Order: sequence, then structure tokens, then C-alpha cells
Amino acid sequence: MAGFLAGKVVAVTGGGGGIGRAVALAAAAEGAKVLVADYGVGMAGEDPSSEVADAVVTEITKAGGEAIAVADDISKMESGERLIATAVDTWGRIDGVVAVAGILRERMLFNMSEDEWDAVIATHLKGHFTVFRAAASVMRKQEGGGALIGFTSGAFAGSVAQANYASAKGGIVSLVRSAAVGLYRYGVTANAIAPVARTRMSANVPSELAEMGDPEDVAPMVVYLLSDQAKHVTGQVYTVVGSKIAVWNQPTEVRAMWADGRWTPEQIAERLDSTVGQERMGMIDRLEQMRQAAASGEKPNA
Ligand SMILES: NC(=O)c1ccc[n+]([C@@H]2O[C@H](COP(=O)([O-])OP(=O)(O)OC[C@H]3O[C@@H](n4cnc5c(N)ncnc54)[C@H](O)[C@@H]3O)[C@@H](O)[C@H]2O)c1
Repeated sequence: MAGFLAGKVVAVTGGGGGIGRAVALAAAAEGAKVLVADYGVGMAGEDPSSEVADAVVTEITKAGGEAIAVADDISKMESGERLIATAVDTWGRIDGVVAVAGILRERMLFNMSEDEWDAVIATHLKGHFTVFRAAASVMRKQEGGGALIGFTSGAFAGSVAQANYASAKGGIVSLVRSAAVGLYRYGVTANAIAPVARTRMSANVPSELAEMGDPEDVAPMVVYLLSDQAKHVTGQVYTVVGSKIAVWNQPTEVRAMWADGRWTPEQIAERLDSTVGQERMGMIDRLEQMRQAAASGEKPNA
């Protein structure tokens, strides 16, 4: 057994399937004791089962590692608390939390129901808060701090039929950045991964994704961020797909204009386009390319 995470205790939500499973297995293979937290639901959050979390724990223990399964709904406050309490009661500490659990309920904004909105925000965004909140209160007091890792998506920059999912993923980026600044003085890092990988979740994307990889391609970056070698890395968003790792920029103002006193709408209409203007939105450019490709009979690339 390798030792990149020797002695560390790591909780992985969504650790029973897809990318979370690959992360749980990789962390265990590197010597971490792993809490596999998975509600074992279908892709829309239906039909919970403890089987997937148990199966990953069996895989880890058969390979000589140490793991415990927790089959709770991570969108509930008490589930986050129970998860971290289980780690602390069993192994004495919690060094890393990887929040991978997620569901999809895709719908155009004008047709989306309240339930479709609430369920996706609860699983992704609140599902990060519940476990980050519980872990942070332990990590800030323990020697060695800790590492929080969220899972966002390129969709946070805007997504056609995923207003709920994109909003949750944008919220996760802001939560991670807030955790990074709020916990900086306690030696706790917080970063986010924007993955692309072949799983049941990506299987239904209607167009071919330009870049693709496997869950096992995502896991090494997560292991690195959980390790002591990444103690200086915080507040970042990394795309991980296949053999590529890329860092996202930090949001910041890029251009400004000033009036003598308060602006009038007329002055803004006259000056905005030629000064501050707009920032190009990649998703709108891509939609335009897809529209043109479809018009010429090609299969569009996302
Ligand atoms: N696969 C991709 O290409 C891709 C792209 C962008 C972002 N992501 C993000 O990566 C993460 C993992 O995606 P995946 O493709 O492995 O998905 P997946 O559907 O294969 O796995 C998600 C896991 O989360 C679990 N889960 C769902 N709701 C839960 C809840 N309330 N409590 C506990 N567990 C719950 C499910 O049981 C499942 O095992 C998600 O956050 C997803 O949004 C994935």
C-alpha cells in the first residue's frame, strides 16, 4: 500500500459511485482511512439504498485498506454531523472531506418545478455545507488543520437546461472560496474540482463533449489536494479531465467607467458599449457554433 495519505482520515460523499468511488478507492490505496458516504440513489435522487456504499467499503477492505460505509442523505444537517462524528469517534480526527454527491433534474428554466430546483440545490449546495460545516469545526481545532474539496462543474458558467444545477455549482465555488478565506488562519484549505468523466451522469449529455476521461483520471488530483504536499493550495477551482488539469481564474473587475457624479440611463446607453462593454460568454459562443453546425447537418460538439 502506497502512503501519500498515510494516517489521514477522509470522508467522501457520493463515494459509492462514479467519481466519488474512484476518489474513495484512490485515497484508501494511498493509506487513508475512508468514510464512504453514499445514499445510493438513482440519478434524480430516487430509491435510496445502502448497497453502493457497502460495496465500495468491501472493495477497500479486500485490498487491505480501512473504510466504513455511511448511507445517509447528505442534504440533511444531521447527516453531515453524523458523518464527521463517525470519523472522529472511530479514528480520532477528520483530515479531509471530499463532497462529490450529486443528482440531476434537467429542465428548461421556464418549465422547472420548485421540487426540481429544491432537490438539486439541496443535494449539491447544501450537501457541501452540511459536511464542510461539521468538518470545519473539528479541523480548525486539530493539529494539522484539514482539506475541504468541493465538486463544481463547468456548468457554473451557465448551462441551457440546468438552471438548478448550474446555480448549485456556482454556489459551491463561492462556498469553497469563502471556506478558503474563512479557514485560512486555521490551516484548513478549500478547493473545488470541475471534472469531466464517463459516469452515468455524463452518459446522457445530448452532444459529444470535446474532452472526456474516466473517474480514475480525476482521483489523483483529489489525493494530491488532500495531502500535506498541497497545504499551500487554497481557494482554487481545477478542471480535471483525462490527462488535463487546468486552473480557473478568480472573479475580478476587468474594466470600469466613471461619470461626473451619478450616471443617467442615457449616458450609460451612449458610453457602455464603447468602454466597459461586455465580457464574452463562452456558452453563448458555443450555442451559436452548435446552431450553425446543426444547420449544416453536422453532429454538434459541446
Ligand atoms: N461526470 C461528469 O462528467 C461530471 C461533470 C461535471 C461535474 N460533475 C460532478 O461530479 C460529481 C460526481 O458525479 P458523477 O458523474 O460521479 O455522478 P454519479 O451519479 O455517478 O454519482 C453520484 C453519487 O452521489 C450519490 N448521491 C446522490 N445524492 C446523494 C445524497 N443526497 N446523499 C449522499 N449521496 C448521494 C449517488 O448515490 C451516487 O453514488 C457530481 O457532483 C457532479 O455534479 C460530474
